[in-house]
Amino acid sequence: MPTNTLTINGEQVAVLQGESLLDACAKMGISLLTACHDNRLEAYGGCRTCLVDLDGAPRPVPACKTLTSAGMVVSTSGEQLETVRATIDEMLECIPAAALETWTDANRFIGYDPQQCIMCDRCVRYCDEIMQCNALEHVGQGVDAFIQPTQGDSFLDTSCELCGGCIGTCPTDALYSKQSLKVFNEQSDAVLSSTRTVCNYCGVGCVIDIESQGNNVIDIDAQTGVGPNDGHLCSKGRFAWQFINHPQRLTKPLVRNTESGELEETSWQNALSIAATKMLDIKQRHGADSLAFLASSRCTNEDVYALQKLARAIIGTNNVHSCAAT
Ligand code: SF4
Ligand code: SF4
Ligand code: SF4
Ligand code: FES
Repeated sequence: MPTNTLTINGEQVAVLQGESLLDACAKMGISLLTACHDNRLEAYGGCRTCLVDLDGAPRPVPACKTLTSAGMVVSTSGEQLETVRATIDEMLECIPAAALETWTDANRFIGYDPQQCIMCDRCVRYCDEIMQCNALEHVGQGVDAFIQPTQGDSFLDTSCELCGGCIGTCPTDALYSKQSLKVFNEQSDAVLSSTRTVCNYCGVGCVIDIESQGNNVIDIDAQTGVGPNDGHLCSKGRFAWQFINHPQRLTKPLVRNTESGELEETSWQNALSIAATKMLDIKQRHGADSLAFLASSRCTNEDVYALQKLARAIIGTNNVHSCAAT
C-alpha cells in the first residue's frame, strides 16, 4: 500500500495514504486532545481541539480532518498553538443559552443535560452514519444551539432504536443513561469497579464492560477498538441489565407442593433430584423420545454441550435444541 513520509516535531514518520495527521501523530505516540472525533465516524473537524501547525498553511489545521501528504512538516506544540487552544477551551466551556431549558423525554433510557453539551455533533453523526436512524438533530446556532430528538419529538416517536450509541460516543456525558444515573444515585459509597466480559444475549459476542458497585450493576458500556462490536451495542446489551439485581428475580429453585399446589423454595440438590427422578420415570413408562430438551439462548456453549450430552448419553434421545439456533 502506498505510503506518505512526513515530518512531525522534527521526526519522520511514514503513514498510509488516506490516513490523517491525527493517525500520524498516534503512530508516533503523540496523543492530541480531541472532542468531536470518533474513529468510527467520518472526520468532522468541528471542535478544533486537535489543531496543529502545518508549514505553509496560513493558520493551524485540525489534525483529524487533514489528510497526510508526502513532505508535510507539522508541529504539535508552540506558543501560537497554545494561545489558540486556550481560546478553543474557553469556547467549549461556554454553556449554550438553550442550556437553561433542559428538555425531558418520556423514554426510560436516554437523558440529555444541555449544560454538559459542547455541540460536537458526535451523537447526531453516530445516529446518522452508523445507525442510519436520523433520530437526533442539531438545532440552532452558536449559543442558542442544542441537540434534540428529531423534530422535537420524544425518542419514542422517532426512528430511534434505543441502541444507546449516542451515549457511548458522547465525550462529555451530556447524553446519559437514565437508569444508570438512578441506580448510581441510590448506591452507597462502595468502590466502583469495571469487569470486561461478553454479552450473552445473542451469538454476536459483543465485548462489554460491566460497571458495578459492590454487587450492584451500575452501567454497561463498550469500548471502541475492542472486540467484534468496536464499541457498538444493541438495546439489549446496553440497557437490559436491571433484571440482574431485580428483587423479583428467581435465585433459588422452586418446587410445587403437591398438597397445597403452591411453589415453594427448595435446595438445588432436592430440585435436581426431583427432576431426575421424574424424567427417568417418564422414560421408563413412555420411552426416551417422550422427553425433549430445550436450551436457553442465555446459556454458554459449554452449558448447551452439557445439555445435549444429558439428552443423548443419559436419556437417549436426539430431541434437543437451543432457541439460539432459530
Ligand atoms: S439510541 Fe441509537 S438510534 Fe437512538 S438516537 Fe441514540 S444513536 Fe440514534
Ligand atoms: S450530546 Fe454529547 S455527543 Fe451530542 S453534541 Fe452534545 S456533547 Fe456532543
Ligand atoms: S449487545 Fe446485542 S448484538 Fe451484541 S451480543 Fe448483546 S444482544 Fe447480541
Ligand atoms: S477532534 Fe479534530 S476538530 Fe474536533
